[in-house]
Amino acid sequence: MIRMKKDFIVTPWEVKGKIDYDKLIRDFGIQLLSEDLLGRIKKHTGELHIFLRRGVFFAHRDLDWVLDEYEKGNKFYLYTGRGPSGHTHIGHLIPWMFTRWLQEKFDVELYFQMTDDEKFLFKPQLSIEDVQKLTADNILDVIAVGFDPNKTRIFSDIDYAKTLYREAIRVAKHLTFSTVKAVFGLKESSNVGQIFFTSMQSVPAFLGSVKAGKNIPCLIPLACDQDPHFRITRDIAPKLGYYKPAIIHSKFLPGLGAGGKMSTSMPSTCIFTTDTPDVVRKKVWNAFTGGAASKKEQEELGGNPDVCTVYQYLYFLFEENDKDVKKRYEKCRKGEIVCGKCKKFLTERVIEFLKEHQKRREKAKDVLDEFLIKD
Ligand code: TYM
Repeated sequence: MIRMKKDFIVTPWEVKGKIDYDKLIRDFGIQLLSEDLLGRIKKHTGELHIFLRRGVFFAHRDLDWVLDEYEKGNKFYLYTGRGPSGHTHIGHLIPWMFTRWLQEKFDVELYFQMTDDEKFLFKPQLSIEDVQKLTADNILDVIAVGFDPNKTRIFSDIDYAKTLYREAIRVAKHLTFSTVKAVFGLKESSNVGQIFFTSMQSVPAFLGSVKAGKNIPCLIPLACDQDPHFRITRDIAPKLGYYKPAIIHSKFLPGLGAGGKMSTSMPSTCIFTTDTPDVVRKKVWNAFTGGAASKKEQEELGGNPDVCTVYQYLYFLFEENDKDVKKRYEKCRKGEIVCGKCKKFLTERVIEFLKEHQKRREKAKDVLDEFLIKD
């Protein structure tokens, strides 16, 4: 289990504290996305996505190998997912938007897994009916991101269980309870579904190869909390005759409070894709900033954008122009801009972003069948 001595915790079910990403790279044994590798991506994509330019996607496993294979004419497929435990927030959209970009630029297929089984097993308060309702709701957000219907297959574990289970038990046969306990911190008292679950999340990492009847590389974009699942997959896939999946890792969009990632369990510091403009205004207005105690003090001493959630949001996603975001950083440091101004700018950007997303979300209801697969 990756529990970083008190300062921060990153597991698939708990992310807490101020994450030291350099330490996380060392502890997880993953590789930093080097300038070299970014250059190789750019050779194929023509430009670098904002998440690559800004280091939001910052690390990987075997991405160089995926590119080697791609350059030899051996295309990869993408795999990512969602555990439907509540409404979608804009943090979830980060890996999905990046996956969409990769799909378009490399012209590749995508498996998108909805782990309704996981959320049923791990959230005592959720019934099967609840997770199925949330799955149907969250899928609209997935489609709204703009994936190619001809190249994207979305499935719920419960509805696609016949196909998935056959492969999951092959994973499970190589996986011991002690490994699951060590990797995820499960206990003797954990329900047995929780112990088995990671086998289900493994399957789409080689399902493309099962279906094609030959080995196809798989690349998984995710935020780093999901990496432990695929450490297990990478260990077991070769034993089943498949490639290890490659991974590209993103940082977490923080919540709007002080410290921690954006998380559904703290709704007031979280921007949901269905939030109205009024709700966005209120949430951003209450956001934790790096501002000084008073306007006067801020003008004299400057602010601290490094700890400011409003600046983080602009940096991650909402201020695309690299020069403008740099200027904003410097102006804040020198006390030439006050928090109210940045909050107002961010509010407008978020409202505009959500308006477009919500339109596409509505349209998604008409095209569900083009994306969904079940047994
Ligand atoms: P889930 O539903 O917790 O999260 C969905 C995706 O969003 C990422 N994420 C974030 N990214 C940036 N900032 C945040 N604040 C933030 N919070 C969550 C997660 O890392 C994830 O990529 N079990 C998985 C679903 C799943 C999956 C997968 C995810 C199934 N197969 C393959 C990635 C890859 C889950 O519960 O994700």
